[in-house]
Amino acid sequence: MSAGKRGALIIFEGCDRSGKTTQSRLLVELLKSKDVPVQAMNFPERSSNIGQVINSYLTNSKDLSDEVIHLMFSANRWEHMNQLKQKLLEGKTLIVDRYSYSGVAYSAAKGLDFDWCYAPERGLLKPDAVFYLRAPASDLASRGQYGEERYEKAEFQERVAKVFDRICSKEASYWHQFDASQPAEDLHAQIASITDELLPKVATQPLDKLS
Ligand code: TMP
Repeated sequence: MSAGKRGALIIFEGCDRSGKTTQSRLLVELLKSKDVPVQAMNFPERSSNIGQVINSYLTNSKDLSDEVIHLMFSANRWEHMNQLKQKLLEGKTLIVDRYSYSGVAYSAAKGLDFDWCYAPERGLLKPDAVFYLRAPASDLASRGQYGEERYEKAEFQERVAKVFDRICSKEASYWHQFDASQPAEDLHAQIASITDELLPKVATQPLDKLS
């Protein structure tokens, strides 16, 4: 990269089965084809010690209180922050599947206080853009059976979507909402066009923190 140019922090958010994984893969492939330095990441990052506890919780082999698992998800982001920062400053664009907003949405959907849920996220790197893939939970459920993981139930996902909607309207300056029920190629084209404009714009901006 040219001196002083940083990469962009781009997050995909949405309910389970909203197409985040497909869309992040398509975006990474596109950027690679254009020789943009890019890396895919996802949270929870399940390989660390904390990540392994989260994995045991999600696969129902371990029970933890709602508060404890919430803080574990947040700690899992914090333990990777220096690494993310370094990569961005080296000029790498990061395409991240889920971030703080999933942390808030899934825990607030269980009934935890929204502000309490957001508090441990303050100070983490602020994304340059969040691509929110939105579709009614009933549509997502009809894409095939939800899997075996703890949160994969249509009624719960509907509550999660409501919290995402609330965050989306609050953070409208960098959130982009998409209809997740449209064909994947159409969605990809819209995401690609926003990313195209975003990368040169943020390259000379300092990194910001969630406040
Ligand atoms: P994944 O399917 O994207 O790996 O995410 C696993 C589940 O964890 C998914 O149902 C969303 C949930 N989750 C939280 O509850 N809090 C968080 O902070 C994150 C990142 C995910």
